[in-house]
Amino acid sequence: MSAITMRTRLGNLLRSLAEPVVRLLFGAKLKRDPSFEYAACLMLKPRRLSLQRVELEDLFEQPVPAVSIERLPRGSWSSPVVDMVAMARIVAAAQPRRALELGSFRGYTAAAIAAHLPSAGQLVTVDIDPQHGSVYRDSALAARIERRIGTIDEQTAHEPDASFDLVFVDADHRYEAARSDTEAVLRLLKPDGWLLWHDYSNWGYFSGACGVPEYLAELSRERPVVHLAGTNIAAHRPCWAQGEGQAELERAVDAMTQRNRGGAWQTQVARP
Ligand SMILES: C[S@@+](CC[C@H](N)C(=O)[O-])C[C@H]1O[C@@H](n2cnc3c(N)ncnc32)[C@H](O)[C@@H]1O
Repeated sequence: MSAITMRTRLGNLLRSLAEPVVRLLFGAKLKRDPSFEYAACLMLKPRRLSLQRVELEDLFEQPVPAVSIERLPRGSWSSPVVDMVAMARIVAAAQPRRALELGSFRGYTAAAIAAHLPSAGQLVTVDIDPQHGSVYRDSALAARIERRIGTIDEQTAHEPDASFDLVFVDADHRYEAARSDTEAVLRLLKPDGWLLWHDYSNWGYFSGACGVPEYLAELSRERPVVHLAGTNIAAHRPCWAQGEGQAELERAVDAMTQRNRGGAWQTQVARP
């Protein structure tokens, strides 16, 4: 066994022994203090984000169009700018005619998606908060957005199969919710559509507030799911499971692997 393998195994063993001790000693603080929990996730669960990483640009044959973000995100729970840029670029490149956002809150990501839809494109936003969408409600973008108030289950139940080209899931991030929201929308997705999840990131493990990594690790055993490098977004397309779509995804994975061969300082991948 090489020294590196031994060190890795020892590290894994120490972390697995430390986890119950940390839970026992700091259980209340882990629930109460998000920064403390975040630090604990980084230290004790460093390999939690295990999905294959790919570069967004490698998933498209044509160059991904430039985008502009008119309203920078403010306040808690708004997706960071890097994720808004990635979402907007996917929309600009994929040109979905009908898109769905689950969990919209102030509407920053909704505005970024709507601004890059094709001219006849429509975005449906769903949120239990009756005030959702304050960012775009008085702007020209509102004409492209159908704002629905209610739970994800009730608002998606009557949609026909394969009726959306793109779905963005960013509501309740707990494991059970990530699973049930995903199950509610998988049938709504067209075979060449895009399913994107927010908060594929290493927080909320101890409190259970974010179970997206655990749920997607499971889902990736049945369907191709990848992590968009440098973002907190994971992606799935039904067409990646076979034929030309599968070959496209493999090319993107190969491109990423080749780039990483150069070593940490030569990689072109945005951090982390
Ligand atoms: C993280 S925020 C969305 C942020 C937004 N996508 C952005 O980046 O600007 C999550 C939203 O999901 C909504 N939500 C949570 N569970 C829900 C459910 N079961 N049905 C509908 N909305 C839900 C919350 O009300 C909250 O506004």
